[in-house]
Amino acid sequence: MSHDTQALNKQRQNLASYDEIWLFGYGSLIYKVDFPFIDSAPAYIEHFTRRFWQGSHDHRGTPEAPGRVATLIATPNETCFGMAYQVSEEVFEHLDHREKNGYLRHEVKIQLVNGKTKTALVYLGAPDNAAFLGDASIENIAHQIFYATGPSGANRDYVFELANALRHHQQVDEHVFAIEAALNRLA
Ligand code: SIN
Repeated sequence: MSHDTQALNKQRQNLASYDEIWLFGYGSLIYKVDFPFIDSAPAYIEHFTRRFWQGSHDHRGTPEAPGRVATLIATPNETCFGMAYQVSEEVFEHLDHREKNGYLRHEVKIQLVNGKTKTALVYLGAPDNAAFLGDASIENIAHQIFYATGPSGANRDYVFELANALRHHQQVDEHVFAIEAALNRLA
């Protein structure tokens, strides 16, 4: 599979058939909202954890020195916090381009904080995508992130902005906070 998922994503769901379209963001889509939305709410997805296991060759790194960004890893009985956005179909032209580095759109169930369950689309970098880097020690992940930079800026700022956004929502994510702490030790 190539890194660029734009063409694949366009074929994955018939967005015109949805009564309302919800997007679940768990990484940069929490703190960098560069698209219009109709409604938004903090939300949770069950049986997934957030991990810095996806390579970034286009935003927070380069093909020669990829950065690391978040993906969701299937993990029974774990819950991951994110932001849900109700969006229009047109927004996916932009999102598919933004999330093109190995992320495929998946249809999932999410829980909004008001208790309502929604069907949502999530961009997920699965272990079989060409940009996937996989597990490494917290120190090694932080080391790679510390030195990576790309067109969207320093890789470490992705971690800091995500960690701050999680704190803003009174959320604890030990994986994210451990990488943040390791980055601060490197600085
Ligand atoms: C997301 O935020 O939901 C996907 C990964 C990213 O863009 O950081």
